[in-house]
Amino acid sequence: MKDLVYRTADSYYKAKQFANENPEAFWADIAGNFEWHTPWDKVLEFDFLTPEVKWFLGGKLNITENCLDRHLKTQPNQTAIIFEPNDPSEAAQHISYSELHSRVCRAANMLKANGAKKGDRICIYMPMTPELAIAVLACARIGAIHSVVFAGFSATALAARINDAECSILLTSDGGFRGAKVTPLKEIADEALTSCPSIKNCIVLRRTGQDISWNPIDLWWHEELEKVNDVCPAEIMDSEDPLFILYTSGSTGKPKGMVHTCGGYMVYTAYSFKNVFQYQKDDVYWCTADIGWITGHSYIIYGPLAVGATTVMFEGVPSYPDYGRFWEVCAKHKVNQFYTAPTAIRALQKHPTDLVEQHDLSSIKVLGSVGEPINAEAWHWYDKYVGKHKCPIVDTWWQTETGGILITSLAGVTPQKPTYATLPMPGIQAVLLDNKGNEIEGETEGILAIKYPWPSIARTIWGDHERYKNVYFSAYPGYYFPGDGALRDAESNFRITGRVDDVVIVSGHNLGTAPIENALNEHPHVVESAVVGFPHDIKGNALHAFVIPSTEVSANKLAEELRALVAKTIGPIAKPDRIQVVRGLPKTRSGKIMRRILRKLASGEHDSLGDVSTLLNPEVIEEIKKNN
Ligand code: WT7
Repeated sequence: MKDLVYRTADSYYKAKQFANENPEAFWADIAGNFEWHTPWDKVLEFDFLTPEVKWFLGGKLNITENCLDRHLKTQPNQTAIIFEPNDPSEAAQHISYSELHSRVCRAANMLKANGAKKGDRICIYMPMTPELAIAVLACARIGAIHSVVFAGFSATALAARINDAECSILLTSDGGFRGAKVTPLKEIADEALTSCPSIKNCIVLRRTGQDISWNPIDLWWHEELEKVNDVCPAEIMDSEDPLFILYTSGSTGKPKGMVHTCGGYMVYTAYSFKNVFQYQKDDVYWCTADIGWITGHSYIIYGPLAVGATTVMFEGVPSYPDYGRFWEVCAKHKVNQFYTAPTAIRALQKHPTDLVEQHDLSSIKVLGSVGEPINAEAWHWYDKYVGKHKCPIVDTWWQTETGGILITSLAGVTPQKPTYATLPMPGIQAVLLDNKGNEIEGETEGILAIKYPWPSIARTIWGDHERYKNVYFSAYPGYYFPGDGALRDAESNFRITGRVDDVVIVSGHNLGTAPIENALNEHPHVVESAVVGFPHDIKGNALHAFVIPSTEVSANKLAEELRALVAKTIGPIAKPDRIQVVRGLPKTRSGKIMRRILRKLASGEHDSLGDVSTLLNPEVIEEIKKNN
């Protein structure tokens, strides 16, 4: 495959057919576009029942040589990263491939000088500064496994993730700028580190200059950099060595540390990046996600850099200093591909359209959407005001677990359809199943499943392979089960209908209801709680918590305390919009909370509860209805 990319529908459909008939030859061809120290001796070994997936077995590589060193030969002065600061009056930075290479190598030496080695876990809790990307790549350079924790998470959540992976170093910063706010990251990290015995060093980037307290294990980033040079040969990694861990929430209180490996992840993120966005040399590509999420890992850092692209990193928020900021940045850097989340579009859509129209968006060729289903209204607004009806929109369906985009159109190459993610990428075998796990054909609705591995599938959950098996491979043996429902039209386009498990997507963030309930239950006056999602104008879904108090309490005061508790235990993103005090929760006779009914109650669908007579306590329904 030349240049990794299909530029015509014809070549796309041919590739698809070839991939279905000869998957190993198909992926080997793509993997041949990269630099390997030693070629693989076997393309794939897998068994979805155990489950075990290995790609490019025996292959040796370092992903940073593919993202950095090889571009030095052809385009050392090409901009790799454009950094756009939170404050528009601060100058943007253009970091070339050769500068990025040098800074990554120096940071890698800083990590080594502080004891880091191949296989160690390094936690990164940082704002969206260039040093965050550099930290990620520096870990990869020396074969340390990075675990980026989104800088909006609380001390408790950070500590849980550090301890689960037994990280030895924490990389953080004094604080972070986000809109008009300054987040006290070091203070939060300090609190977390009171319960993280595995951390030996905490290296602190100076970003905001705010006062911070200083502990014996703390080191200043800029001082550590001065002690080392920028020559750092890449650690040679096995294709299946872990590259990173990234936590995602699940249906128990404990987050799942998804493990991605070096070879397959590199191949798939680069391949999907180039094809989906139809990136061309010298284009400027901007993904607005945070590197704390998989979107940032795959489509701000690894995918774009692997193909030598120019990728924008934005520190701020869409509403600061006003709701025109995204468009101002697009005009300023002449962005060609713009990739954001439906929740951001819905928020922007509420504001006057001249905030968009006053900026010159003529550079934009491709628009992208990720994180949740995009509703028709948001799709059409995006198409009209941002795309001016001339930019294809790629609605990209994927997950932390899949590592890269699996279902999408290719911009301008394959047909789009509003609210439909459309077709699986060549090499992806997506099917619909009925409740019994039988494949169903044609125009229908069912449970989405993937029946053949792809190179960037997560290999395990850190420290808990059994859970990996249970969550993704047990419900429908022989398939990867992502947890989403979907429908398919007569042209085989998929439309993702939403989660079929206890995960709610709030503003594009994947939140398990169980960890939130656990947090609520920590309150001394809460006996039991249940959290469900309900449709929300801007966030897509928001959270409704039903709580049973132990004593007579002021509902407002309790709600306020519970919100603070959730923010402290998980992070502000998990705070329920509504907290309803109830006397009982609808339960089955075996004592299981009927979330299906609570979801309807929270969504105001009081008349479609179905048969409630089999409940243990049908009388609670009337009380809940009355008060919500
Ligand atoms: C869940 C994964 C994909 C990276 C960011 C979120 C939902 C994601 C779409 C889309 C409909 C989508 C799914 C999925 N989702 N993209 N284009 N259309 N739903 O990653 O936090 O792992 O969440 O996000 O429900 O399972 P994540």
